[in-house]
Amino acid sequence: MSEALIEARGLQIEFGGVKAADGVDLSVRESDHLAIIGPNGAGKTTFLNICTGYLRPKAGTVHFDGTEITGRSPRWITQRGIARAFQIPQLFLEHTVIENMLIAASARDRVRSLWRPMSASGARREMLDLLELMGVADLAGQVVTALPEGQRKLIDIALALALKPRVLLMDEPTSGVSSQEKFQIMDTLIGVLAHQKVTAVFVEHDMEMVERYAERVAVWDAGKIRIEGTPAEVLADAGVQRDVIGL
Ligand SMILES: Nc1ncnc2c1ncn2[C@@H]1O[C@H](COP(=O)(O)OP(=O)(O)OP(=O)(O)O)[C@@H](O)[C@H]1O
Ligand SMILES: [Mg+2]
Repeated sequence: MSEALIEARGLQIEFGGVKAADGVDLSVRESDHLAIIGPNGAGKTTFLNICTGYLRPKAGTVHFDGTEITGRSPRWITQRGIARAFQIPQLFLEHTVIENMLIAASARDRVRSLWRPMSASGARREMLDLLELMGVADLAGQVVTALPEGQRKLIDIALALALKPRVLLMDEPTSGVSSQEKFQIMDTLIGVLAHQKVTAVFVEHDMEMVERYAERVAVWDAGKIRIEGTPAEVLADAGVQRDVIGL
């Protein structure tokens, strides 16, 4: 079995008496496709926020590839290889898609290769190739405000991938995407993640997506992981069916 890439132990955080993390232990292994499911307010986004430095837990630790990252800044964590796509995409709305991509690439290259900055045309080519790989090269010249929610989500994911992460954490990647499009988008995305050898963690409310794209599932409930297993095991659980899927 491969080593854990992200190892969370005993995470706790509270907001005004609400325990958004109440002893969360989770290991994410290299090349995992792990889905996080659970009711609204269960603490799913909070977990991603702790792993990416947006929240500091009251107790507990997160290690990434053997290094403790608990309480480090989002920037420090991103530079070491954990990228994040948001529940609400974080894009420069008045700029075009390719401009957004170039801003991400330039932030990355300023950090990584001060002595050998990538040429502007090299970065543009690389970002266009990434958009092509994601099947959205035709959106490159569009201003973000002109795009529907689903396409904004894809571009937000492309921005995260532009950072060349080892792990990508995604918060509901296909919410806001039409049901006709979501499988095609996810097929493309999973293909890109395999191609770039990126480990994936995604929060998801749609059980069809979980069944089809996750290898493992962790079910969140009131700040705790209630059950963890393969999609078949988890989705067959009576408690999960009652409280999460609502059968
Ligand atoms: N920064 C914050 N400040 C105050 N309360 C917060 C903060 N972040 C989360 N919470 C609270 O913690 C709980 C868990 O929130 P979280 O956003 O992690 O849930 P979630 O599982 O992602 O829900 P959803 O499915 O609706 O996105 C909620 O009660 C939420 O209101
Ligand atoms: Mg959330």
